Amino acid sequence: MASPRGQWSGKLGFILAATGSAIGLGNLWKFPYITYENNGGAFVLVYFASVAIVGIPIMVAEILMGRKSERSPVAAFQALAQGKPGGQAWSLVGFLGVLAGFTILSYYSVVAGWTIHYILMSTSGKLAYLAQDPVALQNHFGNEFLASGSKQVFYHLLFMGLTTAAVFAGVQKGIERVAKVLMPALFLILITLVIYSSTTSGFGDAMAFIFKPDFGSLTLASTLEAMGNAFFSLSLGMGAMLTYGSYMGRDISIPKSALQISLLDTLIALMACVIMFSIINTSGIAVSKSSTILFTTIPTVFAKLPAASFFNLIFYLLIGFAALTSTISLLEVVSSYAIDNLGWSRHRAVATMAIAIGAFGTLSALSLGANSTLSSINFIGKGSTEGVFGTMDYLATNWFLPVGGLLIALFAGWIMNPRETRSELEDGHGEMRGYSVWQFLIRFVTPIAVAAIIVSVILGKEYN
Ligand code: PHE
Repeated sequence: MASPRGQWSGKLGFILAATGSAIGLGNLWKFPYITYENNGGAFVLVYFASVAIVGIPIMVAEILMGRKSERSPVAAFQALAQGKPGGQAWSLVGFLGVLAGFTILSYYSVVAGWTIHYILMSTSGKLAYLAQDPVALQNHFGNEFLASGSKQVFYHLLFMGLTTAAVFAGVQKGIERVAKVLMPALFLILITLVIYSSTTSGFGDAMAFIFKPDFGSLTLASTLEAMGNAFFSLSLGMGAMLTYGSYMGRDISIPKSALQISLLDTLIALMACVIMFSIINTSGIAVSKSSTILFTTIPTVFAKLPAASFFNLIFYLLIGFAALTSTISLLEVVSSYAIDNLGWSRHRAVATMAIAIGAFGTLSALSLGANSTLSSINFIGKGSTEGVFGTMDYLATNWFLPVGGLLIALFAGWIMNPRETRSELEDGHGEMRGYSVWQFLIRFVTPIAVAAIIVSVILGKEYN
């Protein structure tokens, strides 16, 4: 039964697309560097706990709301809130999600665009050459590349173009097709790099750093940072999973899918840490600015290898692929609003939204160029409000996603009828024995934990 809204071809298509949305710069870039800043071990455990008690319950809620309503966020809330307390006011949560998608995509694609520049420099051999001298590479990255507004805008728009092409082609022919090619490639590259890093001298220390908890170094702020990153990394709080769930067949188990997506996402964040820390340890280079490790430190280690350009190439392809399957999901949320609520055709919706986001994103791209100092790049959630780039990032990560997530949890836990949610979760799954566990989490534990994040942001305690 082909629905006019589009549908995944089956379980694999859904899982790969949703995992593709989840795995992105949040895993490969942000998770390693905040783990680094928060001293490893204990922080990683807190992150696991956040995924379990905040991430998985909200992911289940989003997918179930999407599949039940067969709508994107705004229309889903409109349909599901009918005759319920709060009524149509709930659709504002959907709007917040669309706004979050718009905002995140506008700056995310700037960073994603950097991977294209690095991929091109890898194939030409320029990257391996520059990276022989760490200072030369840093100069290139900071003073030549970031400082050039035209380059920043160019690569941002190029990445938006790739994203647009995929979403334009539709759910199955575009989004799913891209995920089916890129995700296996991504896994293969990651495994290759993990194997390589296990042969480096820094591997043992990296494992100890990641897996040996030292609870003494844990602070309230790092606990909250872990939770905030769980939202971002799992693509939660803005209706991305809800939208992908709306294209899902009734023969697929929602709880199992949510579990699989979350576990894969977490596993890959850990693999990224193993790779990055092994390489940093091996390099012996002191890391001063952890948020730029990805573009400055890594190539200097590869430069010492015989196949430097090859490793550079697969490394930046990995990041580019991961980012693309994420930007696709962001554009899909925004476009599907126009499709479901404004009655636009997919082509009109995608083209219009992509142009608007592309134009708005140039402000972020130029704000980096204008500042040109590395200190303005506090990617994702570090609360740097410097420049448009930092402001958009700050708003989305610290406000839109946690607030959206809290409201989604409250809606699924308290507003929707338990009979409705149970029967939706049992469709494609069979009797759900864990239902009461999910219900307890989504009603009490998840909202309280998320409210704690929000309160901490209000009190300005999130990063000190
Ligand atoms: N999860 C993506 C990442 O880790 C980012 C993202 C956030 C994508 C929200 C969609 C929605 O990079």
